[in-house]
Amino acid sequence: MKKNIILLGPPGAGKGTVGSKLSELWGLLLISSGDLLREHLKKGTDSGIRAKKYMDRGELVPDDIVVAMVAKEMSKPLCARGVIMDGFPRTLSQAAMLDRIFDSEDEVRVIYLEADDDFLVNRLSLRRVCDSCGKIYHLVNLPPKREGLCDLCGGKLVQRDDDREEIIRRRLEVYRKLTAPLIEYYRDKEILSVVPGNGRLEDTINEIKKIVKW
Ligand code: AP5
Repeated sequence: MKKNIILLGPPGAGKGTVGSKLSELWGLLLISSGDLLREHLKKGTDSGIRAKKYMDRGELVPDDIVVAMVAKEMSKPLCARGVIMDGFPRTLSQAAMLDRIFDSEDEVRVIYLEADDDFLVNRLSLRRVCDSCGKIYHLVNLPPKREGLCDLCGGKLVQRDDDREEIIRRRLEVYRKLTAPLIEYYRDKEILSVVPGNGRLEDTINEIKKIVKW
């Protein structure tokens, strides 16, 4: 029986940060659809090139591109014990696709990280990511040990192109319209738990450990 976590929440709620911590803790593979898209973009694949214009505008990338990337990742042997999903699903049709991939006996828990828009805009404007390994930092709350450099690989820390205020606001609008309906979808299945996304990282992780006792 696989153990799977879906991290749901608006841009900046901490899905990537929390997901990476849980992945270390539970030894489950973290699958971030945003990171997969950015990798394709960096490598200049056809899918990456097609995705770019949507990502630059803060819009969702068409399902056929994202679903193919996620399905490929989920077929890897590393997923044998289960996965932690960050940023997928993001629409009801993606959720239906994921339901088809999970086996009926698999355990699935959805953690909804909740936070309000002004907090998220402010938090994302202070986010930096490693250009090389993708590790996520926050200039105030989770700063690197050496300014501008990644603690893990020494790579350069950069600001994501879509972390400009007008694009963040657009991503939040898209989230409310297309992704927020998933809250009710998973609440109806009785697998959703709500956790504040604006607290300290340790508190968020402890809260999740109280809910998911693995
Ligand atoms: P994606 O990369 O998934 O972006 P997002 O959902 O907008 O989420 P973010 O990565 O911005 O935020 P997060 O919640 O992971 O927060 P983080 O942990 O970094 O998607 C980008 C684009 O790709 C989309 O706009 C779309 O175009 C496309 N895309 C992706 N998936 C798709 C899909 N399924 N379908 C279609 N299109 C798709 O944290 C944010 C900051 O806060 C960091 O600085 C972090 O250090 C800090 N922080 C986090 N938690 C804490 C804490 N507890 N305490 C202190 N600081 C914290």
